[in-house]
Amino acid sequence: MKLEIDQQRLLSELETLATFSDAEPPAVTRIVFTPTDLKARAWLIARCEEAGLAVRQDAIGNIFARWSGADKAAPAVGTGSHIDAIPNAGKYDGVVGVLGGLEAIRALRRSGFRPKNSIELLVFATEEPTRFSIGCLGSRLLSGTDRDGESVDEVRRKAGLNGNLQDVKLAKGYYKAFLELHIEQGPLLERAQISLGIVTSIAAPASLHISIEGAGGHAGGVLMPDRRDALCAAAELILAIENAARSSAAADTVATVGECDVFPGAVNSIPSRVRMTLDIRDTDQARRDGVMKAIERTSQRISSKRKVSIQWELVNADAPADCAAEVRAALADSCRADGFPFLEMVSRAYHDSLFISRIAPMGMLFIPCRSGYSHRPDEYAAPEDIARGALVLAESLAKLSA
Ligand code: GLV
Ligand code: MN
Ligand code: MN
Repeated sequence: MKLEIDQQRLLSELETLATFSDAEPPAVTRIVFTPTDLKARAWLIARCEEAGLAVRQDAIGNIFARWSGADKAAPAVGTGSHIDAIPNAGKYDGVVGVLGGLEAIRALRRSGFRPKNSIELLVFATEEPTRFSIGCLGSRLLSGTDRDGESVDEVRRKAGLNGNLQDVKLAKGYYKAFLELHIEQGPLLERAQISLGIVTSIAAPASLHISIEGAGGHAGGVLMPDRRDALCAAAELILAIENAARSSAAADTVATVGECDVFPGAVNSIPSRVRMTLDIRDTDQARRDGVMKAIERTSQRISSKRKVSIQWELVNADAPADCAAEVRAALADSCRADGFPFLEMVSRAYHDSLFISRIAPMGMLFIPCRSGYSHRPDEYAAPEDIARGALVLAESLAKLSA
């Protein structure tokens, strides 16, 4: 079997998909189910159909594009990622795994390979937490993991998705294996000058909404000892969060306050209310939870010292996921057969594969991204790395579906 990745077409599709954006290039903003995202999804569905794949969507908007195998009743081998993008993002996060997956399937078809198991491209709906506060909503529902989806009901119906959310869950054994190709979103591959990473596990993510209520007032009239400034309390808490993550027993603990809304937001008004988010992750779930507890204790001290109320709402606190030995072996064998060195590594970003691991043996393949940059407009992956990733993906799909 001679597999050839059409690098030129893959890159030109990547550029085209980046034009479906609500930001000025090179930034990409593609929030799920916005008119722009719906156009991107329609474009992608057309590309899948053009490739001869049978396309269906479920009630939350996960897109399945299937190449039927000789044994139609056997579980499929899946691959895929997401195309939604956070505000002011780049063009590679998720997209490399979707278009790389599509090109891998096309390359297999061109080669004359006939799979025994069906091969399916899965485009996960709403991987990014921008719109619905929680990440990986599509894969959470596929794997039957929490969340009733009520808050998304109206939005997805407006996007033309009217099925029953209860039906999104995949039957056990639906996938024989699932592989996701993705940019690393960190600098380790580039530093090691190695072009491929085989993921061993995905770190445990958690996120919270924090709401601080103090007292507003006139910026000139209220003297400093009388103040209950919600933003000053937030500032102290943000630094305490940074300190808690920095002083954790391992460098694997990371914490980020990425959103901070100040009310009423006027130059001459004392902030009475702040709403902010906390994203905290670790490869070790117990250590992450310990750091979260320590932050909560500090927040209680700040609350009583500054006489403000601080409320926490846990959005998600997920367990880490291990990649399956057989999927890692298929990826490693493909790399070895091609003479491509690879690094075994942890994924510090989360991915839909975290949830898919609950219903199927899962593996992930990383390619480098320049300086480790991701979730920013200058995110970049080299064409030859993208093509190499798609090739190893295609070879591994072939091994797992033969
Ligand atoms: C996914 O985008 C993440 O935040 O890890
Ligand atoms: Mn992302
Ligand atoms: Mn991603």
